[in-house]
Amino acid sequence: MKLIRPRTGVITRLNIISSLLLLALFVTLALSSYRREQALILKSAVNNARTISRQIIETRDYLSRQITREPQQSGALIPQVAASQIAGQLTKGSEFYVRQVSLRYRNPDNRPDSFEAETLKEASHGASREVWKVADGAPPGRTGEGKTLRYLITMTAEESCLTCHGSYESAPDFVRKRFPKGHFSYGYRVGEVIGAVSVAVPMQALYRDIGANLKTGLYYEGAVLLIFIALTAWIIRRTILLPVKAVSSGITDVARTGDFSRRLTAQSDDEVGELVSSFNELMAELERKTIQRRESEERYRNFIEIAQSPIVTFMADGKIVISNQKAERLFGMEKKELLGLSIFDFIEDRERLHQAIDDYFSAGSSDLIGTTTRQKVRDVCGKMVPVDMVISVSQSEQTPMFSAILRTIPR
Ligand code: HEC
Repeated sequence: MKLIRPRTGVITRLNIISSLLLLALFVTLALSSYRREQALILKSAVNNARTISRQIIETRDYLSRQITREPQQSGALIPQVAASQIAGQLTKGSEFYVRQVSLRYRNPDNRPDSFEAETLKEASHGASREVWKVADGAPPGRTGEGKTLRYLITMTAEESCLTCHGSYESAPDFVRKRFPKGHFSYGYRVGEVIGAVSVAVPMQALYRDIGANLKTGLYYEGAVLLIFIALTAWIIRRTILLPVKAVSSGITDVARTGDFSRRLTAQSDDEVGELVSSFNELMAELERKTIQRRESEERYRNFIEIAQSPIVTFMADGKIVISNQKAERLFGMEKKELLGLSIFDFIEDRERLHQAIDDYFSAGSSDLIGTTTRQKVRDVCGKMVPVDMVISVSQSEQTPMFSAILRTIPR
């Protein structure tokens, strides 16, 4: 079997299709896993924000219950201030920003931004309200681009808070000194929303890791994908394309040379192997048929050669293809001269013979075929010789051949 290179057609098309399908699959998988990771990260970020907030609220509640006069000496012990300080220490070095805000703020630093103000206005009375969302822009008080996770949990005033957030009259001196009578930070009642813990974290910081994961993931998966595609292409080429190509070029060769002796070796016993053995069987069958035909032709030739009467076999167009010795003697020519000439040039009533052949094709029979008629044939010198002629038809490979048996009339 000679080495045949398949044309790039099938394999390229196959490669393109499988690459596209795999690529789509691979991108979908990568994206969906990226989305899942994003969702997980968001969830854990919200959890973190919640924990930080709870920690602030608990610290502040504890201080509010335990401490009343101490803040006179040190403002750092004001429950809200202390809780924020502790939370600030805890989140130091992380990307989390923590604030406590109030619509009726005492410290202008605690003035809510629009998102915080909106949530606070919506949450008037009752249970604490937890809200989170991913917003455009940097966390409050920071500059930068991208998205930010905003988390807010509202706080309600309890009895202990009213020491300093209740009426002006009952507030400690240090509070009264800083915030005069009528300041909007007085006058809270138990259960009223007094403010909120607000936590913010830039999404960019959260997604940094999974972005890097996605990138290395893409590299690895891309490499695996490439290897996979190359491997499939190679396997398909070896197991299907090369054998199929061998069969097809085998058929082309046979069509060109007519040599049925060619056989291919099957490399496998799968469907492709079956194709190869079918090809071999077909070739064997054709070879057998050709030998048979050649033998029967040979027999025919031998048979007419020994016949006592001159016989010429010709095609529908009159071309003489087989002759015997007696015929050659009758026409006064050698076999190699006679073969290839036209029977019509030898017969006197050529019109009638033409007609007979036409009739045979149109009607399936004719008066000259199968019946003996008296004719005159011309020999090489132009002498006319009377003969009794009978024509028989034989079908060989779809084309009829006509054999004229000529019997010379003894004078
Ligand atoms: C000992 C007095 C005192 C007590 C008790 C107290 N606070 Fe305050 N609170 C203050 C002062 C003073 C500020 C202003 C701090 C500053 O200057 O940053 C403040 C600020 C706040 C703020 C920030 C908004 C603003 O007004 O600037 C919130 C929210 C708050 N307190 C809630 C509470 C809650 C809830 C309680 C009860 C659990 C409570 N506080 C108990 C004195 C007190």
